[in-house]
Amino acid sequence: MPTRRDFAMLPVIATTAEELASVRPDGAAGPLVLVPTMGALHEGHRSLFKMARRLAGADCLTGTVAVSIFVNPLQFGPNEDFDRYPRTFPADIEACAEEGVDLVFAPGPDVMYPREPEVRVKSGRMGAIIEGATRPGHFDGMLTVVLKLFNLVRPDIAVFGEKDAQQLALIKRMVADLNVPVRIESGPTVREPDGLAMSSRNRYLSPSERRTALALSRALRAGADRIGAPAAEILGAARAVLDEAAKADPPLHVDYLVLVEPATFTEVTSHYSGPAILAAAGRAGSTHLIDNLPLTVHGGT
Ligand code: PAF
Repeated sequence: MPTRRDFAMLPVIATTAEELASVRPDGAAGPLVLVPTMGALHEGHRSLFKMARRLAGADCLTGTVAVSIFVNPLQFGPNEDFDRYPRTFPADIEACAEEGVDLVFAPGPDVMYPREPEVRVKSGRMGAIIEGATRPGHFDGMLTVVLKLFNLVRPDIAVFGEKDAQQLALIKRMVADLNVPVRIESGPTVREPDGLAMSSRNRYLSPSERRTALALSRALRAGADRIGAPAAEILGAARAVLDEAAKADPPLHVDYLVLVEPATFTEVTSHYSGPAILAAAGRAGSTHLIDNLPLTVHGGT
């Protein structure tokens, strides 16, 4: 049977809560699957849309795939890139059409925040460490908008990328702690052929910064090549690559390199054995980049 994707049909676009309520299907036909984004869509997003399409039902006669596009001011710090964050709405709609997205919710800031929000989600200890220590307040702002999007769109399932591993862990924790009635699914990081994790921020990089930025994925690979080794050996292998990149021109300013337990983001101890995430972040020029790889650690006895 031909699908919406075969015809690259334009999705329905809602920009207000009222418009969204009037076009949101009642769910009788199948699940509503939401992929929250900030736009500037790339292949990483497209792979999540494909996953959402599969979860909703492969053709548009079953469930609904919804994508939200909103650059959330609450999750940017005062010196971060909110103003220059890429906004590519026409191209985003085209990408959504090509991937069989049924509905795009694209509210403006006045719709999401008609006044300064007094009540917000607090991301707790887990939101204050690692990426949260580099970007104070970021995860509170992110969780606040995700909960608002869940309340507005009321998805059965929501899909997030594993590249933002701490974000994903926090969203799962929020859903569990606050009994939010949504199932969370995730899709793997999509990489450029040279290993760079896809990100809307990659377009900020000059050619030389991009070369420097590659050290992040190389470092993670070097660590992951020690799969099954104790934590110190994995971290040492990754650290050696980052130390070299810190001397490159332009240098990589390393924010962190950590090996953490996937659900809590607590750093693993030297005796830890089990699944872990090797995560790193740094700046090439003024661009903040993050990356991670899942792996297994075998601690000594
Ligand atoms: O990952 C993102 O693009 C954003 O953090 C999200 C989840 C859409 C919330 O603004």
